[in-house]
Amino acid sequence: MYPALEKELETYQKRTPKSRKAHERASNRVPIGVGSNYRYYPPYPLSVRDGKGSRIHDIDGNEYLDHNLCYGALFAGHCHPAVMKAVEKRLRIGTLFGMPHGLELELAEEICARFPVEMVRFGSSGSEITMHSLRLARAVTGRSKIIKMEGGYHGGHDAVSVSVKPKEGQFGDPEHPTAVVSSLGVLKGTADATLVAPFNNLPAVEDLFAENPDDIAAVLVEPIMMNIGICMPDEGYLPGLRDITRRYGAMFIMDEVKTGGKLAYGGACEYFNVKPDIVCLGKSIGGGFPLAAFGASREVMEVIAKQKMFHAGTYNTNPVVMAAGLATFREVLTREAFEHVSKLNQKLLDGYQQTIKKAGLIAYAEGAGANGALMFYPHRIRNYRDWYHIDEDLWTHYWFAMTNRGVLSQPYWWDEQWTISVQHTEADIDEHLEVFADIAPALAAAQEERMTVGPLGTYAS
Ligand SMILES: Cc1ncc(COP(=O)(O)O)c(C=O)c1O
Repeated sequence: MYPALEKELETYQKRTPKSRKAHERASNRVPIGVGSNYRYYPPYPLSVRDGKGSRIHDIDGNEYLDHNLCYGALFAGHCHPAVMKAVEKRLRIGTLFGMPHGLELELAEEICARFPVEMVRFGSSGSEITMHSLRLARAVTGRSKIIKMEGGYHGGHDAVSVSVKPKEGQFGDPEHPTAVVSSLGVLKGTADATLVAPFNNLPAVEDLFAENPDDIAAVLVEPIMMNIGICMPDEGYLPGLRDITRRYGAMFIMDEVKTGGKLAYGGACEYFNVKPDIVCLGKSIGGGFPLAAFGASREVMEVIAKQKMFHAGTYNTNPVVMAAGLATFREVLTREAFEHVSKLNQKLLDGYQQTIKKAGLIAYAEGAGANGALMFYPHRIRNYRDWYHIDEDLWTHYWFAMTNRGVLSQPYWWDEQWTISVQHTEADIDEHLEVFADIAPALAAAQEERMTVGPLGTYAS
């Protein structure tokens, strides 16, 4: 740690004593004081009091312009009026029945109208959805293995808890990465059924199919890798995966949990003009409520329709969340909203690029739809191993410096990205850019002092 970063951490602690206390107390009963491991960061996370529109307040009373937005789950922004109205209305007439009530059909129609799917099943979290999508692929193909990308995150269940953030010593061959289970408690054998390929590398996927011609049920991919900052697919990559899976009789599953309600009106399917076999949706489609869904063709969904594959959940299609989802699809995720947010994002990306250039930072800004990130790399990253080499202290300096000046530029951790909601304004983007311009010279000075660019153009700090 270097002095400018230490100073930002001191400022953070001076501004947020109540968050520190709250974290200390919570840690006594709740492991690391948070409900989801990602939410902890040292020295302690901010504790939130409230949120409205594009802003939140912490319990010390500090206000923040919020681009965390619950890890990108709030394209609607906080307490969107249309969502609130629909939920409040629903709360008075019954919250949970465990019986059909009509809203499931209405919401399924909305999803089928904009994604290339014919039938939909619902759940409460992205993890459940990717889990059931893999089951669906196995049920349809009668095969057992799946392929995921190195560094890809698809939730917390076992089949995808493989090579999420492997360490350098575990990597293996760059063309044929070693499958590494990513948590204690996951059976080592899980890695036998989850094969791993590098992102943006079609020959590596082709090789895995050639080695396991009749065993691979599905390729599961996030169309833009958004758990390594922002990593765009090369042109032709997604159509290439579509082609390979079709040739080998496997399902092509696109995990649109992040992109689905944020990249474009019809998600990544529309944005990249690809038609996967199964689409996974979550996060922003619920407008702040726990809604997730998977969709596929009638033919694929037949295994559920004929009751050959089991999918269930007490909270599936609960009317409160379905009302939130309907309001979100009809009144938040509109074509105009995507236009508004994309415009704001372009302004933010352009402003970052200008400041990066002016300050002499070795970095770039990358983004699409409602998302973007400051990437501390000399070149555009194409996969997990490119992303792996980052000056973590420099990124931490960026995040705390922005936060101390009232801008939560993105969730904590350098594998995340900013989100812009429909409730953000041009003035919000101006404020974000002013704060970044204010701190960029200090970041550039720190970077120059610390960085040596290695022979492959990667950082050694
Ligand atoms: C691409 C992707 N898929 C799946 C998930 C899991 O969703 P959830 O946290 O709702 O279980 C996430 C969560 O961040 C995600 O980013």
